[in-house]
Amino acid sequence: MSDLEIPAIPQEPSHKPDGASVFAFMGAVGGAGVTSLALQTAQSAKTLLRANGVKDPEICVIDLDFDCGSVLSHLDLPARLTHEHLSYGAAPIDAALTSALAVCHASDIHVLATAPRLSGNDDVDPSSVLAMMDAASTIYDALILDVPRMWRPWTHAAVAAADHFGLITEMTIPSLAAARSRAESIMDIQSSVKPELILSRYERRALKSNLSAKDATRAFGRAPVATICPDETSLHDAMNCGQPVGCVHADSRYVKDVTGLTAKWLGMSKEQSEPKPRRWRRRAA
Ligand SMILES: Nc1ncnc2c1ncn2[C@@H]1O[C@H](COP(=O)(O)OP(=O)(O)O)[C@@H](O)[C@H]1O
Ligand SMILES: [Mg+2]
Repeated sequence: MSDLEIPAIPQEPSHKPDGASVFAFMGAVGGAGVTSLALQTAQSAKTLLRANGVKDPEICVIDLDFDCGSVLSHLDLPARLTHEHLSYGAAPIDAALTSALAVCHASDIHVLATAPRLSGNDDVDPSSVLAMMDAASTIYDALILDVPRMWRPWTHAAVAAADHFGLITEMTIPSLAAARSRAESIMDIQSSVKPELILSRYERRALKSNLSAKDATRAFGRAPVATICPDETSLHDAMNCGQPVGCVHADSRYVKDVTGLTAKWLGMSKEQSEPKPRRWRRRAA
């Protein structure tokens, strides 16, 4: 008998017959803004799906870095999933257990993540991680994967299963070079995976000394799918409040940029991604 602490399991976990939309994010370099972007994508997906008729969209962020992932600390959440839950192979991991191990944030975003642990990525069994991703894809409307840069046995499955895989770069030559070489190595392993370039902290009104989106396109070999503006104040406030940015600065440029990317990846038109205009009713006399 293991001394695994297994939480109460709901009788009937909801089942999504079409499977979840899966979006994966990886940084070309450290600190590129992956976790912030993953969390805001989750919040934007929730808002967009709800505005487009999905009654209670269920979104889950999975932190695939079991050494030093920071999704829990960004949202100020405790861990429910432990390394031990992920140590016994695929068999014990099903939809019911996966849904019981997800923690729910006040914004109604679910999170599957362990507390950081030194060499935590070596302690988990890759087949457990794959089984957890599989199970989660049957429960949620959308899965957002925060994928570590260090290549792990589950990384390939995560990026290959994703409907969209964003490679996030800063606007520097080393970061763009790292993005290009990472994209090429991944496509060498599996040609069907198409990393999409996301320019983080991209200033549209660039100074002469800054790199432009054209420079990035030339360096990467393809145009970026999105640019995300720098917005230190909103990001800083969100982290210190333990919230996705949209819960703290809903009207910020950052949220607008991330919502644009999310709408594109969800296959929504521009009209579907914009808030409906308010219809003012004349008060009865
Ligand atoms: N677009 C942005 N503008 C300003 N600061 C940002 C932006 N994106 C991320 N940051 C900040 O950069 C730091 C690293 O972000 P994080 O999302 O944790 O990156 P990663 O997961 O790639 O390490 C955090 O302090 C975060 O607030
Ligand atoms: Mg991170």
